[in-house]
Amino acid sequence: MSTLAGKIAVISGGTTGIGLAITQRFVAEGAHVFIFGRRQAQLDAAAKLIGRNVTAIQADAANLDDLDRVAAAVRDQKGVVDIIVANAGLVEHASIDTLTPDHFDKTFNLNARGPVFLVQKLLPLMKRGGSIVLVSSAMHVMGIPGHTTYAASKAALRSYARTWAAEFKDRGIRVNTLSPGVTETPILDSQSATPADREALVNMYLNMIPVGRLARAEEIASAALFLASDQSSYMTGADLMDDGGVGQV
Ligand SMILES: NC(=O)c1ccc[n+]([C@@H]2O[C@H](COP(=O)([O-])OP(=O)(O)OC[C@H]3O[C@@H](n4cnc5c(N)ncnc54)[C@H](OP(=O)(O)O)[C@@H]3O)[C@@H](O)[C@H]2O)c1
Repeated sequence: MSTLAGKIAVISGGTTGIGLAITQRFVAEGAHVFIFGRRQAQLDAAAKLIGRNVTAIQADAANLDDLDRVAAAVRDQKGVVDIIVANAGLVEHASIDTLTPDHFDKTFNLNARGPVFLVQKLLPLMKRGGSIVLVSSAMHVMGIPGHTTYAASKAALRSYARTWAAEFKDRGIRVNTLSPGVTETPILDSQSATPADREALVNMYLNMIPVGRLARAEEIASAALFLASDQSSYMTGADLMDDGGVGQV
């Protein structure tokens, strides 16, 4: 039997990279998945690629009114949610000498504030047995120059998982973080002005990764499936580091 047969999932940023791979995997395992992101063209492309059991909604994960719309759509169309994956996130490099209040707010509003309200707004639809996966990053345990706000925003997710695991004790809902290592997705383009910059960035990471390569998004989706499903039924408040060892050495 499919691992997620009949389950309803909501995935922020399910249109490219890790979120798209998770969406594809969850649908293949029998779930109906609501995805949302800002760009309509990417939403349309993802929905076409997946082809069935997916509802794509244009919404900004940092905008609380948009999150209300997402929650209303899930409530009206399905009435319940079994799995929440807070995946949408951004990386902008900035050293302490150069970072601006706008950079700080942009990073924290999406990476750290958005997931709190996504979970708050969907929680009334979640029953016992629900699973929440917060996509953090191996960087939450690392110190890499230029990542003051990114690493701290991802560390916030690690903290939420601990607090919510305790808060949800009587609700029968589990919450864990998934901390990927460096994964081959469009987010690497957003960190590089030129192809040469991208190659230099990737080479810097390759020197740090014991497995000796970047992750494929499908590998991270396998870990997300584990956390979302009953296969991880005894895990809550934990952090699953699927990172090729980069955060372990
Ligand atoms: N790739 C890595 O090396 C890596 C490593 C560790 C952790 N992560 C984390 O994994 C998550 C996914 O990253 P990725 O590499 O798959 O990135 P990606 O390929 O750039 O995908 C990001 C997804 O999030 C959506 N998104 C971005 N800003 C959004 C917003 N304000 N509202 C709604 N959706 C938004 C994007 O769609 P729109 O742009 O259309 O909104 C897209 O669907 C992020 O949280 C990232 O920090 C990535």
